[in-house]
Amino acid sequence: MTAEAKIRAACLIGWPAAHSRSPLIHHYWLRALGIEGGYSIEAVPPENLAEFVQHLSRHGFVGANVTLPHKEHALTLTKPDARARAVGAANTLWYEAGELRATNTDVEGFVGNLDACAPGWDTASDALVLGAGGASRAVVFGLIERGIRHVHLANRTVERARALADQFGANVHPVAWEAVGDLLPRANLLVNTTSLGMRGQPALELEIGRLPPRAVVADLVYVPLETPLLKAARARGLRTADGLGMLLHQAVRGFELWFGRRPAVTPELRALVEADLTRD
Ligand code: ATR
Repeated sequence: MTAEAKIRAACLIGWPAAHSRSPLIHHYWLRALGIEGGYSIEAVPPENLAEFVQHLSRHGFVGANVTLPHKEHALTLTKPDARARAVGAANTLWYEAGELRATNTDVEGFVGNLDACAPGWDTASDALVLGAGGASRAVVFGLIERGIRHVHLANRTVERARALADQFGANVHPVAWEAVGDLLPRANLLVNTTSLGMRGQPALELEIGRLPPRAVVADLVYVPLETPLLKAARARGLRTADGLGMLLHQAVRGFELWFGRRPAVTPELRALVEADLTRD
């Protein structure tokens, strides 16, 4: 075996091989920690996914990130943990005792970012989560894991909120989209997981002034970096957690699993990814 072949490497499995910030993030950490390792993007069509994942180490990888459209399929090809099972999608794979395991790091990306931006956020008794898609599942799971007693879940299509509440249990209360305004005064934590406010999408129309004085506001949207929701929350002096922070924090666990060191989300890393985002 050549010296090069022994270098630990991970990859991002997607189709098509879309532009991703993951290589930038992992290369930064490899450099910062002085680890000789690699991270590449692998374009794997759906019909080849099973073979690629089942023989990941033979393809030269100690682990992988998984992105669209493979996240659900990857779950069935691996031994998923509780987070991946609850979210119904795997985004990070690694070997443990010879077995290929899977998790969903969006859960800890979300809570890790809140811990960094708004320590003490988890004393909230009531959270209001907007949206009931894939991202919302990771958020709701994280909130329940951290002991939030009431998670009010509002979605334009209320049936999706109901289905999610049925899965996650009695702490999750599905509510109609029209009820959001009246719930704001007791939302100690407000989380937007919808695409509203994203560049090219309609704005999220909310009366931020109705939130309690010490509410925390999180938005998963990161294009633009400062969404109108976050801007309004900051203007009111509320603590906020943005989508880029979540993106950076969700990458921590994969790196740790593959390369054995827990990396830090530094201002320097944030600036690097921010510059890349604004190039688009
Ligand atoms: P993701 O996996 O990123 O969460 P998704 O599953 O497509 O993406 O979910 C998008 C979320 O944004 C959904 O909650 C969606 O509401 P519906 O379930 O009713 O579709 C929400 N969303 C998108 N456009 C919206 C709009 N114009 N008004 C309100 N909610 C919207």
